[in-house]
Amino acid sequence: MSPHSAIVLAGGLGTRLRPLTEQRPKQMLPIVDRPMIEHVIAKLAAEGTAEVVLSLGYRPDAFSAAYSSGRCGGAGLRYATEPEPLGTAGAILFAARRAATGNGEAGGGDPFAETFWALNGDVLTDAPLSELLALHRARGAEATILTIPMADASRYGLVESDGTGRVSRFVEKPASGAVTSGWINAGVYVLEPSVLARIPPGRPVSMERETFAAVAADGSLYALHSEDYWIDAGTPASYLQANIDLISGRRATTLGALSPRATVSPGATVVGSVVMERATVEAGARLDGSVVLPGARIGAGAVVADSVVGYDAVVGPGARVAGFTLLGDGVTVAAGESLQGGRR
Ligand code: GDD
Ligand code: MG
Repeated sequence: MSPHSAIVLAGGLGTRLRPLTEQRPKQMLPIVDRPMIEHVIAKLAAEGTAEVVLSLGYRPDAFSAAYSSGRCGGAGLRYATEPEPLGTAGAILFAARRAATGNGEAGGGDPFAETFWALNGDVLTDAPLSELLALHRARGAEATILTIPMADASRYGLVESDGTGRVSRFVEKPASGAVTSGWINAGVYVLEPSVLARIPPGRPVSMERETFAAVAADGSLYALHSEDYWIDAGTPASYLQANIDLISGRRATTLGALSPRATVSPGATVVGSVVMERATVEAGARLDGSVVLPGARIGAGAVVADSVVGYDAVVGPGARVAGFTLLGDGVTVAAGESLQGGRR
């Protein structure tokens, strides 16, 4: 049986996705048809998780406003907002303690006194979590990590394990130049409550740099290798890719590229791109490998390639936006103007 409860980390600043994250946390940015966080929680709910505690810091109100019913993605939702950033392990401890002391909510018991899930809130995957749990139980592990093969592990955590899955080494953000190819931490964990006891309270603690090292040293950290679909949607290129993968048949489910509430001229060309609700694409415009957020407007004859057009932003007629450009909320690109990379 799947653990009843999960902690999902969603308190980061989303620095790499600025200016899109100036008004909202990255987990509230839409991926095709819903905020990122709903995709993450729907995956947990599909695998049997009933309750999620969202660990928040930066702009927590964006979540409570969107999910005022207390439900999200098919699971019950609670919030634990840190007074200051506590790092990935500190945040998990804080969230677990908050849930245990009731947080003003009804319902008894401590949901984190038994095996639970913990996830990075920017990770989308089709890997079967049941297999992760099965390995965890079979080995009697204290913590078990989902891992994914990666040619360049330098922006991830590199995880080395033996034939039984036992982890011998965890290296967070290995320096490029060192060993950079291998199995990386997918940011999806099964944890025993004893892991919480290893996290010193009241100061920032990194799961990746501190806590996992201690569990590995005791021989009770395990890793499951998975070659299923996985992406961390937290950079401009990977945010674009996460959207495009969901419309192009690379995922277990495929979604429509054009919102039924968007207006796309029959004279526009849209290739491998997502156009969200209330957005407009005029005649002669061309979209390629791009994401147009709600309410944005692409003028006649404009070209947008490998870029994100922010909420209610305007790309003027004949303008050209390319090379992983991010346009913030309400920004205007003048008619005929050309932008290559960068942020506005
Ligand atoms: N509550 C809270 N407090 N959340 C935080 C904090 C914090 O202090 N710091 C980060 N987060 C959240 C982020 O919002 C995100 O959902 C998650 O924790 C991971 O943070 P990222 O900033 O996205 O980390 P990363 O992508 O560089 O690296 C992590 O993820 C990789 C896989 O995607 C590490 O876990 C790597 O080891 C891993 O390979
Ligand atoms: Mg990330």
